[in-house]
Amino acid sequence: MKTELSLFERTLTFHRFPIRNNELLQAWDAGDEYLISHIEELELTSSKRILILNDSFGALSCWFSAQHQVFMMSDSFIAHKATLENLKRNSCNDVTLLSTMDEIPNEIDLVLMQIPRNNRHLVWILSKLRQSVDEKCPIISVNKAKEIHSSTLQLFEKYLGDTKTSLAWKKHRLVFSFANCTPVPNVDEEVRWEVENEKMSLVNLPNVYSGESLDQGARLLLEHLPSEDLTDFIDLGCGNGVLSIKLARLNPNASITCVDESFMAVEAARRNLNNNLQTQPEITCIANNCLDEFETESASFIVCNPPFHQQQAITDHIAWQMFCDSKQVLKKGGKLLVIGNRHLGYDIKLARLFGHTQVKTVASNNKFVILQATKY
Ligand SMILES: C[S@@+](CC[C@H](N)C(=O)[O-])C[C@H]1O[C@@H](n2cnc3c(N)ncnc32)[C@H](O)[C@@H]1O
Repeated sequence: MKTELSLFERTLTFHRFPIRNNELLQAWDAGDEYLISHIEELELTSSKRILILNDSFGALSCWFSAQHQVFMMSDSFIAHKATLENLKRNSCNDVTLLSTMDEIPNEIDLVLMQIPRNNRHLVWILSKLRQSVDEKCPIISVNKAKEIHSSTLQLFEKYLGDTKTSLAWKKHRLVFSFANCTPVPNVDEEVRWEVENEKMSLVNLPNVYSGESLDQGARLLLEHLPSEDLTDFIDLGCGNGVLSIKLARLNPNASITCVDESFMAVEAARRNLNNNLQTQPEITCIANNCLDEFETESASFIVCNPPFHQQQAITDHIAWQMFCDSKQVLKKGGKLLVIGNRHLGYDIKLARLFGHTQVKTVASNNKFVILQATKY
């Protein structure tokens, strides 16, 4: 796997975060190279204020920090961590890290964006750019050409302003826009819906997983959460916090820790727990990579509906890290409750970690299986 990006007689070294043995995926893509080449050819004067949106692992931030003041905005804790580590690795200048819930800084001269997968998140970002960025500031976005549909460009026109595209290069295309559409759109940050049969009302921020409706796996898991007078639990990959709310109602004395790598998920979970619980349990909601830096043998129960992709890549390495971390963080006798698609083979992974006799099937249907692993 290539770790050195060489362009314009400069070489920088990039790794994904977290670093894995036998990593097959690069920490940047042809879209990053296309943006860098395009901007270098413009020969900008130095010290521009550049806003970089959704830099995956920090390649753009590192590159442009050499001559400019960079603000990197992303909803991903992992992107923030990767950017910090790659900045350090290449002895780059500091960059200001922001989440996509933060205000856009004043007097931005140039905006560069990796177009996000989720259209609601895209619309949210476009509307914020329209509200905050000067009409003359170039906004240049990039994605794989096959991901830029005419409907995507219509979103740019509707929520941002004048938009045109480049020719494709290495299967990527640039999108050039200005923040000048009228009227200035006002996009609501929250979408709210009720969870059927649960007396639960959930707010969903623009980049929250399954933010338009309840995830099918979560639906099944809601029916099989334990009522065991738990003292504490962790909701690992909490999304909007739906599982925590039900688990807290079933175990009203438990303290709750919600963890997600999306800043918006963490904020949505915090709002939803506060709005949907009558009791006032101890609630901690934090952005983190799995259970990095959690104390060992500190939790009694962990519930987890793991993700199966990281940014564009389909992978089960995050689920595996979540299971390994859970084993570390659970007390002896503590339990991990997991849901997954049947074909993902989580039973084999959990048996390998916890031991065959420690894993049981709690429930299943034709699509999902719920497994419980007990630490001995
Ligand atoms: C399948 S969703 C489950 C969401 C919610 N618990 C539910 O059941 O609807 C998986 C969640 O894991 C989060 N996630 C992905 N990678 C993560 C990581 N490395 N550390 C913590 N959370 C992560 C995603 O942002 C997403 O919210």
